[in-house]
Amino acid sequence: MKIALGSDHAGFEAPEPFYKPALIAHLQAAGHDVIDCGPEGPGSVDYPDFADKVCREILEGRAEMGVLLCGTGMGISIRANRHRGIRATVCNTEEMAQLAREHNNANILCLGKRISSLEDCLRLMDVFFDTDFSGGERHVRRIGKIDA
Ligand code: RB5
Repeated sequence: MKIALGSDHAGFEAPEPFYKPALIAHLQAAGHDVIDCGPEGPGSVDYPDFADKVCREILEGRAEMGVLLCGTGMGISIRANRHRGIRATVCNTEEMAQLAREHNNANILCLGKRISSLEDCLRLMDVFFDTDFSGGERHVRRIGKIDA
């Protein structure tokens, strides 16, 4: 799958291993094609800018889904969800990641560096990208109302 990934400086927050390169390496090892939307290092940046880059990759058809990381996952998800057609969900548990896909057909997984361990983030990505939308009529109807 083609996955766009971006973060703010939380992606390079000490201590090592830094989350952003570790998330990318994990997705690539699982066979995904990752579009790195930045940033490249630990300098302070504004998370809305990187949310926008990942959303553009999806909405313009270069990526199917995305991953966004900030300190909590919250700020970056709030910005991502301003884009029509984006369904970005903060997930802290495997059940949230599964239901985000099955019920919400989420297309961006938002992670919190200060909330979830790196190991948990890797597992959350595995669940998210291995779970399909259920396609249930009630879920299709509800998702339709999000962008109405
Ligand atoms: C940046 O310090 C921090 O506010 C950001 O990473 C995120 O947690 C916002 O929701």
